[in-house]
Amino acid sequence: ERDGAVLRLALTAAPHTVQLLPSVKTEFWSYNGSTPGPLIEAMEGDTLEIRFRNDLPQATTVHWHGLPVPADQDGGPHHPVAPGEERLYRLELPKGSAGTYWYHPHPHGDTPEQVFRGLAGALIVRTADDPLAALPEQHLFISDLRLAADGSIPFNNVDDWMDGREGQFVLVNGQLQPQLTVNGAQRWRIWNACSARYLRLKLAGAQWQLVGTDGGLLEQARPLGELVLAPAERIEVVVSGSGAVRLLALPYDRQKMGDAPPERERVLARATFSAGPRVQLPARLRSIADPGLARATKRVVFSETMSMENGQHSMAFLINGKAYDMNRADWHSKAGEVELWEVINDSHMDHPFHLHGTQFMVVERKRGGKVVREPFKAWRDTVNLRPNERLLLKLRFPHPGMYMAHCHIIEHEAQGMMAQVQVS
Ligand code: C2O
Ligand code: CU
Ligand code: CU
Repeated sequence: ERDGAVLRLALTAAPHTVQLLPSVKTEFWSYNGSTPGPLIEAMEGDTLEIRFRNDLPQATTVHWHGLPVPADQDGGPHHPVAPGEERLYRLELPKGSAGTYWYHPHPHGDTPEQVFRGLAGALIVRTADDPLAALPEQHLFISDLRLAADGSIPFNNVDDWMDGREGQFVLVNGQLQPQLTVNGAQRWRIWNACSARYLRLKLAGAQWQLVGTDGGLLEQARPLGELVLAPAERIEVVVSGSGAVRLLALPYDRQKMGDAPPERERVLARATFSAGPRVQLPARLRSIADPGLARATKRVVFSETMSMENGQHSMAFLINGKAYDMNRADWHSKAGEVELWEVINDSHMDHPFHLHGTQFMVVERKRGGKVVREPFKAWRDTVNLRPNERLLLKLRFPHPGMYMAHCHIIEHEAQGMMAQVQVS
């Protein structure tokens, strides 16, 4: 066994002005002056010590989305960093945590603005016995950006607060339609770091196989056609082929309110593939043990309510009939105990469910009265629910503390579709 190293790095959140056109300046908020922020990479067993500095005009936090870290290191809304202040995040990466993560702000209230101004970055945890380590890797961190005519990043409008904000530009690694080069087979990690945009992804002109989700590799590679990547979800795929290839986002109807026309098909990236020597993926990528018999159950119900205020419709986004309250524990759990979480979408719109502090396994889905057992095992921290869908998740919290559960359409989360579990 490898002795973990301590990796130290410095991360600063600050305004960052970019000259997009000769006459157009855009103020982003960035980590270390880059959008997306710097890629953070470590091995299982390592400890990341991140010296964070907040040079934004608002309080912020850095949330390590998906990592099984103690609540006081998780960057949730209970641990703000005031403007001009610093703090140290200490992240111990346990065995079994290899996977594809990301980091973004999570303060109480201002998360939508901090994310739509550009604060987000990728984090990868690797393992020494990675069966795909020989494959070259490419990262596609997908975000979207809205620019006003004068080049500024406008604030949310009324529709954004209902449906979640979608920008008119969809960027891959901060670039519009980048040109990629793929020689032979490659492993791609793909992040949906958009505030609310769903990505129905298709690789036109090449083959891909699904090999991993948020929390690392599947047991076996699975042939893939198209796939809906909800906000905050990540996947790993192995791609191969030859010739001109396009990564597309196809229209996806997530049942938004009002009558916004469906999105057109978009090209996210273009690639030139050249066929290399045939690669045979191992028949077994890893084994995923079932967490075992559940000792406790939890119930999560997403709902929306509409009311009229001064002739204006206004929406509330709720969990178990309540809006988020920092001073209320919505559930109580015991560290180390296996639990079954029933998550229900009692609304007419898709919502991606996300839980902090651990990864979960989807064991069952129910839609339109039909119960379907999940066909394969995977570790996730984010999963989409279609209207009237119900999921059963199995999980275990490794650490005590207060952890968030919420919809990852960031505008919904900020308006109350968040709750918290007190783990003792
Ligand atoms: Cu990615 Cu609570 O968030
Ligand atoms: Cu998270
Ligand atoms: Cu939502």
